Amino acid sequence: MRDYLIAPSLLSADFARLGEEATDVLKAGGDVLHLDIMDNHYVPNLTIGPMLCEALRKHGIKAPIDVHLMTRPVDRLIVEFAKAGASYITFHPECSPHVDRSLELIRKHDCKAGLAINPATPLDCLDYVWDKLDIILIMSVNPGFGGQTFIPITLEKLKKTRTLIEQHQKDIRLAIDGGIKVDNIALVAKAGADMFIAGSAIFTEPDYAAVITKMRNELKK
Ligand code: DX5
Ligand code: ZN
Repeated sequence: MRDYLIAPSLLSADFARLGEEATDVLKAGGDVLHLDIMDNHYVPNLTIGPMLCEALRKHGIKAPIDVHLMTRPVDRLIVEFAKAGASYITFHPECSPHVDRSLELIRKHDCKAGLAINPATPLDCLDYVWDKLDIILIMSVNPGFGGQTFIPITLEKLKKTRTLIEQHQKDIRLAIDGGIKVDNIALVAKAGADMFIAGSAIFTEPDYAAVITKMRNELKK
């Protein structure tokens, strides 16, 4: 069995109590904290910046922080988030004029580098950067909002991406983001995902530990 990571997305947490929510969801069994950075430009929504990441570290969050940049441009924020304590940084290839350079920049700042791929974005953006990837994030909804419905065709894309990772013999994490719930997590794992980003499925429930345990039980099946 793969080493599976569950990454709660703070986007669906109570924004008036983010520190507490982060602590609680990690105590409840989350492995990685996922931060959605939206700029009201590349995506219609507007969320948070590096100050929040830094504040979470100061609050005592030790778990890896996965920063998902949905911003254009990306390079300056890559540096800021690395300084603010990010562990993984992913960005959308459409958002950087020099994807190779932006990936290098992430690693240069000692973070794990990745690309986030929208439902309609083809996988050929991976073709010439295999040596620079630590993580690939497949979007199973269009970026911008929590609580959207999983787009089924992205399962095919997950499978293709897993095959490509194997063909290239790379140790690259394969994350899925959008519409992940207890009832589809096993399916996406079977399609090749090994990191599961989930916002509304966890934070709309009163008992975070109960949902995360249910997800882990599904992954054991
Ligand atoms: C959407 C974000 C997701 C979002 C997922 O743009 O990238 O991380 O929080 O939310 P759910 O799990 O509710 O689909
Ligand atoms: Zn995300």
